[in-house]
Amino acid sequence: MSDTIPTAWLVYCRPGFEGDTLAEMQHHAKQQGVNCEPAHGAGWVSLTRQDGEAINDLHRQAAFQHLIFARQSLAALPPLVLSREDRLTAILDQVKASRWSFEEIWHETPDTNDGKALSGLIKALTRPLQNTLKKRGALRGKAGGRRLHIFWTDGDRVQLGMSFPDNRSELLNGIRRLRFPSRAPSRSTLKLEEAWHEFIPRDQWDTRLAEHMQAADLGAAPGGWTWQLVQRGMYVYAIDNGPMDKALMATGQIDHLREDGFTWEPPQRLDWLVCDIVDKPVRVLAMVERWLTRKWCREAIFNLKLPMKKRWDEVTRCLTTLEAALASAGVSAKISCRHLYHDREEVTVHVRLLH
Ligand SMILES: C[S@@+](CC[C@H](N)C(=O)[O-])C[C@H]1O[C@@H](n2cnc3c(N)ncnc32)[C@H](O)[C@@H]1O
Repeated sequence: MSDTIPTAWLVYCRPGFEGDTLAEMQHHAKQQGVNCEPAHGAGWVSLTRQDGEAINDLHRQAAFQHLIFARQSLAALPPLVLSREDRLTAILDQVKASRWSFEEIWHETPDTNDGKALSGLIKALTRPLQNTLKKRGALRGKAGGRRLHIFWTDGDRVQLGMSFPDNRSELLNGIRRLRFPSRAPSRSTLKLEEAWHEFIPRDQWDTRLAEHMQAADLGAAPGGWTWQLVQRGMYVYAIDNGPMDKALMATGQIDHLREDGFTWEPPQRLDWLVCDIVDKPVRVLAMVERWLTRKWCREAIFNLKLPMKKRWDEVTRCLTTLEAALASAGVSAKISCRHLYHDREEVTVHVRLLH
């Protein structure tokens, strides 16, 4: 059998965001001067090289941590159609032909009801596949940290992808499942928690999300984000005309001010600014820019609510504007942006001032 090489870049995304994910991937392919053929289904997008060469350079250059809409990023082999009588052989043959070995196998599906319905089938195949790949030496203790992703788009359709340490999501299906804290006042609380997991390494939480820090939460009511800040032991200026949750207010760690989040100024320099106001991205950006260029906070997390169409264009325009504004004010900062699992028609931006 001839060698099979990964010619495709396979990315998972939230269903409904395939167009934005594709636009983002094409931007990177264009930057690298690589000609690719797109394909997509609900919750995934792929770009396949036209010249039959390996995709690895593009996959590596478009580093996962800088992607916005991608939940997972893989270098993938050509898709397979399986026989319903014998699903394993085609998978085993392709792994063998690729000559790659792996430390782990993950079975994954698109984030759709059809995808979820494949869990029984996957469960039945997991052990036999693992045992055979082990016997053949394709699954072993040391294989450069590589992981084999078997992406099931149907009961008889899979695409095999591989991922490498430091350039992938470490979460199954690229989804961070968080338990809703029963005492939090709103489900939005999970957006801020997920953002912290995404943008702040766990071993820095005790210094960057520390007790006695001071934060402002703009558009705070009923208090899901404020609840997270209070849980970390912070003091919060909660800015909103709407009512805050009573039990949360009883902690005594919150100053609730019925003011306009777009014009309110903090009485002193704070550690954190967070903002979940639903408004035009340009308005939110102008406000955040003011905070950051005047150094009213050290770190900020805010949402940009995106229009239904051309979300990639809008978000890149916003980030470029923010970068330019900070640069021209001589403020050096690290800006990251992600479409989080708990985000819907919005992305989450994190900015950290560097000194
Ligand atoms: C999506 S909700 C925030 C939910 C909150 N993050 C939570 O976890 O509970 C948006 C909030 O922004 C507030 N809001 C809208 N415009 C505002 C403004 N100009 N200033 C302050 N708050 C505003 C609304 O009253 C609303 O409570």
